[in-house]
Amino acid sequence: MLIAQITDAHIVEKDRHYMGDPATKIHERLFRVISYLNNLDPQPDFILFTGDVVDKGEKECYVQLRELLEPLKAPFYVIPGNHDVREEMRSAFYDQPYMPLSGFIQYAIEEQPLRLIAIDTLEQGSAYGMICDERLGWIEKTLEQEPAKPTLLFMHHPPVKIGVNLFDAINCRAPLQFEILVRNYKNIVGILAGHTHQGYVTSFAGKPCFIAPSIAPSHYITPASAERVSALELDDPAVSLYEWHEGTVIISQVRRVKEDYRRIDWTELAHVR
Ligand SMILES: [Fe+2]
Ligand SMILES: [Fe+2]
Repeated sequence: MLIAQITDAHIVEKDRHYMGDPATKIHERLFRVISYLNNLDPQPDFILFTGDVVDKGEKECYVQLRELLEPLKAPFYVIPGNHDVREEMRSAFYDQPYMPLSGFIQYAIEEQPLRLIAIDTLEQGSAYGMICDERLGWIEKTLEQEPAKPTLLFMHHPPVKIGVNLFDAINCRAPLQFEILVRNYKNIVGILAGHTHQGYVTSFAGKPCFIAPSIAPSHYITPASAERVSALELDDPAVSLYEWHEGTVIISQVRRVKEDYRRIDWTELAHVR
């Protein structure tokens, strides 16, 4: 199974720029990533879009986002991040069969040998994330339904610290019980998150935890204890890929998509002619 993860697109209105700067080319970055995904062979079984899909949660941005995502060939799934507005996200994706009619945007994707569980960590109005009692109860109940099937969790806010104060202050505030659940369910093979805009691989409750780099530019924070961001880094947007087969561990890789990215067919290269 091949899973693609994209995260933190921070789409703004058509006539605006991310962070007010035209150099951020925020729509073009998402377009570039979509073209890259559509040109993957084989196609991913799933594309998981792990939040901060828009920058300020306005309806117009979600309409814009839906249009941009329309050409995607593989099935895609969204969850909210702190920049999203849950109800705007729900109305923009109301026609997706996985989208709950009300409440938290949490669901399980059951159709493949690897079960995927989406966790909604959005605490509306806050930059940090949250797994409250209600969400924890749902996660517990959902895990109980398939205690032996290999399962991957995905969420916007990482449940771990990465050593960068600004992000550690706004990670996922989860009760100890969440960590205990993840540790005890031996069928949980890993956790995917976003939010930090930079990529990290770490572990949580003894399970691999992949924090995917963003589509939007990332933050340059130095030193790691700094109280403010030093700069916006115009690095290339990223696609994270995860390969999983029954009885194996997850293998992850990150692809950065340059503005002039293209592939030259091997047979067209001068040295093989
Ligand atoms: Fe973000
Ligand atoms: Fe975020």
